[in-house]
Amino acid sequence: MKMMGFLKFLLGLSLMITIMVSTPVVEAWGKEGHFMVCKIAEQYLTENTSRVVKELLPESAGGELAEVCSWADKVRFRMRWTSPLHYVNTPGVCTFKYSRDCFNSQGVKDMCVVGAINNYTAQLQSYGDSSTAYDLTQSLMFLAHFVGDVHQPLHAGFKDDEGGNTIVVHWYRRKTNLHHVWDVNMIETAMSDYYNKDLNVMIDSILKKIDQKEWSDEVNKWETCRRKTSTCATNYATESTSIACEYAYKDVEQDSVLTDEYFDSRLPVLEKRIAQGGVRLAAILNGLFDSSFSDSVKTE
Ligand SMILES: *[C@@H]1O[C@H](CO)[C@@H](O)[C@H](O)[C@H]1NC(C)=O
Ligand SMILES: *[C@@H]1O[C@H](CO)[C@@H](O)[C@H](O)[C@H]1NC(C)=O
Ligand SMILES: [Zn+2]
Repeated sequence: MKMMGFLKFLLGLSLMITIMVSTPVVEAWGKEGHFMVCKIAEQYLTENTSRVVKELLPESAGGELAEVCSWADKVRFRMRWTSPLHYVNTPGVCTFKYSRDCFNSQGVKDMCVVGAINNYTAQLQSYGDSSTAYDLTQSLMFLAHFVGDVHQPLHAGFKDDEGGNTIVVHWYRRKTNLHHVWDVNMIETAMSDYYNKDLNVMIDSILKKIDQKEWSDEVNKWETCRRKTSTCATNYATESTSIACEYAYKDVEQDSVLTDEYFDSRLPVLEKRIAQGGVRLAAILNGLFDSSFSDSVKTE
């Protein structure tokens, strides 16, 4: 409750200030999805957390976490071992199970998006320890990205269709695939239909929904979990897999044409996932870098 009050205060403050962001280039969660998750997270960081984050960010970020939230996608091919860390797949079932599903193509355990979130969170716990062996700038950029990814339902989809990548669909008149619809197309259509083609307007709208109308009662629950593992990332993947079945894959097959009916019923789900990604990323970072929050995301 105490935390909620403080977050509300921060959020209220943030809404009074125009959010200054440069609109990122449209790219493959897509660059815009990640940008929104991190921009939302920034609104919830405490002052002390924000100071540490800024200290860890590379020069190129200009003090802005959101600027480097797609970095992990850029290095994905140069650092090929990181590629499996962006997602996790289930064997065609609507439930995620860490011990069954979290490994890479060589069968190395923990090499999936959930393992990566745990890994980089643990590395960041060594902040302040001068003998740390980790590059915490990288750890932060990976963590910020993967917390976004795990909230994209099809980043925890089925193995056989590669999280929807092999399901060819038409998004209105454009040929694409189901994974891309969730990464990029729905966000683009939302921006042009509802948000004046302005990412900042979309971010503001999501922030308002978190604070006021639809979601404010749930936000506390987004931030905590009852697991004995190091983070709540397993829960995030479990939710994503279940949403993938309930919404993303539902009523879609090869060559489906997806239009208003799909868009209108799925967009609220997608926006909520972006909101949850942002709120939870902030909670993880506050838990790491602000002693007054130290137990907020860690479990019991
Ligand atoms: C921020 O950190 C400083 C130094 O570690 C500490 O003294 C201060 O109490 C912290 N502020 C809050 C609001 O937690
Ligand atoms: C954890 O991070 C280290 C250093 O970046 C990396 O070598 C290792 O593969 C990572 N493991 C996971 C599960 O992310
Ligand atoms: Zn990614």
